[in-house]
Amino acid sequence: MTRRKIVLASLCALVGLAALFAGYLAVETRARAVLEARHARPASEVQAATAPEAVAAGRRLAVAAGCTFCHGDGLAGPGPGPASSLRSPNLTLVVGHRSDADLDLAIRHALRADGTGELAMPSYAYAGFSDREVAEIAGYLRSLPPRGAAVQPRLPGFMTRLAIAAGRFKSQTDRLADARPPLDAGQQFEAGRHLANVACGQCHGSDLGGAPGLPGPDLTVRTYYSRAQFHQLMKTGEMPQNVHSELMQEVARANFSSFTEAEVDAIYDYLQARDVRLAAVRKPAS
Ligand code: HEC
Ligand code: HEC
Repeated sequence: MTRRKIVLASLCALVGLAALFAGYLAVETRARAVLEARHARPASEVQAATAPEAVAAGRRLAVAAGCTFCHGDGLAGPGPGPASSLRSPNLTLVVGHRSDADLDLAIRHALRADGTGELAMPSYAYAGFSDREVAEIAGYLRSLPPRGAAVQPRLPGFMTRLAIAAGRFKSQTDRLADARPPLDAGQQFEAGRHLANVACGQCHGSDLGGAPGLPGPDLTVRTYYSRAQFHQLMKTGEMPQNVHSELMQEVARANFSSFTEAEVDAIYDYLQARDVRLAAVRKPAS
């Protein structure tokens, strides 16, 4: 190789490196802009409940809505299994440093106490909680004695930051902005709709229709779920027709087995009504 060629090759390598570095900087800058963006804090009137029966209701909701799935049994740190990598905070240690409004905004508005957007809290489903329910949940959180170790948050890895920069990974605040409530099937199905919204929406999508990046499909029971099979699914996660989902099994055993028979019936009745109405809407005009 002549001297000239060596100089040329080194120059090319330098330009290549500089381009790579510029690309890296652009990704970091863009990702940080999303991760560090401060959002306006909506007003919250919620006051944590203190009456024992309200606190007990809050505990039931926390189990049904899967808070324990991520925050662990007793909410003292990340749960085991598929959710463990999310490093969900130890809520028993956190609540002492948070106002009731902070808790409400974390649950229903995907906002951290410093106003940045959350990355994992499924607020697109929890936005459906009523003021009373959030007060009950907050009351339950405040009733928990501090225990266990604090969970250190981890900065999202480079691949996640890359996806954020490319707009392919959305913060929960952005997901919430796109969220739609489940189809209204009429007053008699309202209880089931509400439960399905807060308990199933985190995996099946805010409107239960499935969504990109979420594990659960469109929540239809029409194909092969008899009422008895649906009760079985909610207790054990077992599905008919040789379909199998580890995730459904874990969440059913850990969370949905706490539903009363009446609650399971209400969800089933709503999902059937939803199926019927969606079939009517989606039917091609003939
Ligand atoms: C999919 C996992 C997941 C589920 C389900 C979940 N959380 Fe979280 N939660 C997190 C993570 C992770 C954070 C840390 C913030 C973030 O999302 O980046 C968090 C943050 C919070 C915070 C704010 C903590 C702080 O430091 O201020 C509260 C309060 C909270 N969660 C309560 C709940 C309640 C109540 C439920 C159920 C209604 C629930 N979470 C369900 C993962 C989850
Ligand atoms: C932690 C995530 C998660 C939650 C929460 C969840 N599901 Fe699922 N669910 C899944 C996954 C994953 C599948 C996909 C199974 C497959 O097709 O491989 C599924 C599948 C289903 C199916 C079968 C759909 C079909 O087309 O066969 C039904 C029915 C169902 N879920 C009901 C529910 C109900 C009702 C709730 C709320 C009470 C719920 N799920 C909450 C993860 C979840």
